[in-house]
Amino acid sequence: MAEGGPCIPSRYVFTALVSIGLAIIYGLKVNLSVAIVVMINSTELAIMKLASDDHHGDHHGSNESSFANPEFACPAPDSGANATAAVQDGPFAWSEPTQGLVLGAYFWGYILTQIPGGRVAEMFSAKWVIWGSVLVNVVFTILTPVAANISYIAVLVVRFIEGLGAGVSLPAIHVMLTKWALPQERNMISSLAYAGMALGTVISLPFSGILADQLGWEAVFYVQGGLAMIWCVLWLVFVYDSPQAHPRIHPAELELFESCMQGDGGHGHGHSNFPWKALTSGPFWAILIAHTCNNFGWYMLLVELPTYMKHILRFNISENALLSAVPYLSLWIFSVIWSNRLDWAKSKGWISTTTVRKLSTAVGSLLPALCFIGVSFAGCDRQAAVALMTLGTMFIAGMYCGFLSNHIDIAPNYAGTLMALTNTAATIPGFIVPVFVGEMTHGNQSLGQWQIIFFTTSAILLVELIVYSLLASGEEQSWNRTYSGADGKNAAHLSPEEEKLNKTTRA
Ligand SMILES: *[C@@H]1O[C@H](CO)[C@@H](O)[C@H](O)[C@H]1NC(C)=O
Repeated sequence: MAEGGPCIPSRYVFTALVSIGLAIIYGLKVNLSVAIVVMINSTELAIMKLASDDHHGDHHGSNESSFANPEFACPAPDSGANATAAVQDGPFAWSEPTQGLVLGAYFWGYILTQIPGGRVAEMFSAKWVIWGSVLVNVVFTILTPVAANISYIAVLVVRFIEGLGAGVSLPAIHVMLTKWALPQERNMISSLAYAGMALGTVISLPFSGILADQLGWEAVFYVQGGLAMIWCVLWLVFVYDSPQAHPRIHPAELELFESCMQGDGGHGHGHSNFPWKALTSGPFWAILIAHTCNNFGWYMLLVELPTYMKHILRFNISENALLSAVPYLSLWIFSVIWSNRLDWAKSKGWISTTTVRKLSTAVGSLLPALCFIGVSFAGCDRQAAVALMTLGTMFIAGMYCGFLSNHIDIAPNYAGTLMALTNTAATIPGFIVPVFVGEMTHGNQSLGQWQIIFFTTSAILLVELIVYSLLASGEEQSWNRTYSGADGKNAAHLSPEEEKLNKTTRA
């Protein structure tokens, strides 16, 4: 055997499976927003709308019952053959507000397990917590069609439980990373984990559309859930809580961990007290507000675009899903290039950390806000609308190098707690957005209503831009040190420069 040991080091197997695990969780999260488009019987909703309007008195003619409010939406795309494609009815006559509840239920669960998730993973085995998190999502995804046939309330419950399960995944992965990521590889490994989230979305959206189109909406849940089962087996066989617990790890790799991780022992559960001082800290509130406002725009893009594309722009489901995936692909490419360029400019000493965070957050808020305004003016110009939505989604990736990386700058000792706090607040838009859109478009899927929705979103993104530009900081805050124990800076959160230094001093 060559001295290099096994073909694939255990830590790369771990990284790949974590990334795929996150892709599964994100894929199963977004598939409903595609599937719901074909699960709804728009014809019946339109009839119900006409009936309720007749109660109120005069409504001009009820002769066009085969289209959902054609007078409000854009004309069907050019050819007559396509016109029928815009009307794909499913079995469920859920009103828009009900759809909003169904799409939002996931986030009610997700928000509840954010803060406890990390604790549970620290106390028990993070491996089993992550496995359980994915398994819950897989099982309840497969149960979704059954639930839908019972009642929309059953779907609410199913999605709520999926959210509960998914909520623990990120904190638990954070716990495992402290054991499996060598200091010099931490940035790469966490980027790969982020990539898993975007990748899950990129794959799930078109895949859901094709499945729904070819095999019916139930197939979205059965096929995706079934494929994800494979991961559940692989995870149990190939992943262990720590390198020391891995029975088949190569001795050379284990040796590498033992030598590199020596000084890092004990982090991840060191700072058990709550950073109360953060609550009076401007830079902390800057992150919290930016995270919350930005997620409003993010969930608008993630959850509501398929609905807008069907009802207003009149794309059919398979076009719709393919086109919804293009923005996430551009987001992924843009975030890789953007983070790389910012690192480069910083290494040259041209910009400070504070500038990086503010600039990147500005890209992630101002440009999407302009795109939302553009979409509402683009109206029925389908190409312009799709191009603007793609640009908006792409630029929102500015968040990764902006406020999302800012917790570690201002308080490395409390980064996990701060992330749990801002992510909890930032989940609120997850259930506000669908309900807001549902109320706004209830029985009135019109361009005018969507313009109000898009302008509101832009305004919220501009609030983010202003608050963050005024309050944010890339510097460590004094309260980070008030309870720092003996070693001052926590070894878990070193900047790339310090890591390099560490590596060379240890080598
Ligand atoms: C949708 O509703 C209409 C009117 O109630 C009904 O005729 C049609 O069969 C329904 N479509 C499906 C797929 O259930």
